[in-house]
Amino acid sequence: MKNIVIFASGAGSNAQRIIDHFHGSELGRVALIVSNNPAAGVLNIAKQEGIPNLVITRKHFLQPGGMIKLLQELPADLIVLAGFLRKIPAEMVQAFPEKIVNIHPALLPQYGGSGMYGHHVHDAVIAAGEIKTGITIHYINEHYDEGPPIFRRTVDIDPSDTPQSLAWKVQQLEHDWYPRIIADLLEGKRGKTGDIQ
Ligand code: GRF
Repeated sequence: MKNIVIFASGAGSNAQRIIDHFHGSELGRVALIVSNNPAAGVLNIAKQEGIPNLVITRKHFLQPGGMIKLLQELPADLIVLAGFLRKIPAEMVQAFPEKIVNIHPALLPQYGGSGMYGHHVHDAVIAAGEIKTGITIHYINEHYDEGPPIFRRTVDIDPSDTPQSLAWKVQQLEHDWYPRIIADLLEGKRGKTGDIQ
């Protein structure tokens, strides 16, 4: 049984889908939910689901040794960022090579980087007059949204779309695909750099 650890800062709708996907699975389970936001909805989900949770503070980011040790001892087989708004410390990225994945609500490398989260992404995509957007699942490195891509899916943008309607469309893709890609990664079925189908 593989251990999935979810890092999230917000409502946790992706976290919920991942938990649901692995209910009763022999492949893996969500073993821990970590948040930097004590008011995050994802912590209520953790409590409802009976999943251990941990709230981390600035100190954990400045001195990540303790957090890394805890994750190694669990052991964390896959660390899944699902709407986590803090940068993962370089020391932690190095401690878990190809074991930390993120989902971004756009087609990276476009519309990524610092400040590109939540509605800011969809605002920028609409303002640029794009005809397609989508999701990117990628390994993380020391820079926001720059790690090697694992998977992309696109969705068409209609002339009538607004940032809100786009957010909904993209969220459907996230909910459909993130749990499945996580399962594939746990099974070693995908994830070689450059394999983005
Ligand atoms: C998702 O859109 C994800 O792509 C982004 O943050 C959002 C998280 O939403 N990085 P939720 O907390 O899972 O509902």
